[in-house]
Amino acid sequence: NSEENLRVNFINRDGETLTATAKEGESLLDVVIRHRLNIDGFGACEGTLACSTCHLIFDRKIFDQLGSISDEELDMLDLAFGLTNTSRLGCQICMTKAIDGMTVRVPRDLSDARRDLAEKQSN
Ligand code: FES
Repeated sequence: NSEENLRVNFINRDGETLTATAKEGESLLDVVIRHRLNIDGFGACEGTLACSTCHLIFDRKIFDQLGSISDEELDMLDLAFGLTNTSRLGCQICMTKAIDGMTVRVPRDLSDARRDLAEKQSN
């Protein structure tokens, strides 16, 4: 099913809402890339679980509908800026009918685990 019949709203870092269509099974990172949504620094590692720039904050009700979380995602989330109880990494969340029409919040700022690592290594 490659129809773009789902919808997602992103509240960007500056508070502006970006609305995009999405396909079932598509990751939120893919949605952002495909629509070229202007979210500063988002998805730096292209979904390889090596950054935390795709950090998104969900409503509790939506959060509970999301798939399970891997240890790798948890480790990376730990490094995310402004972590909340309903935070996930956007590259690990796939669109389903259950979360169609949801609104997700992009944290005000980001930290890139790779950049932090590079800084540590150069010190
Ligand atoms: Fe890097 Fe999601 S894009 S962890």
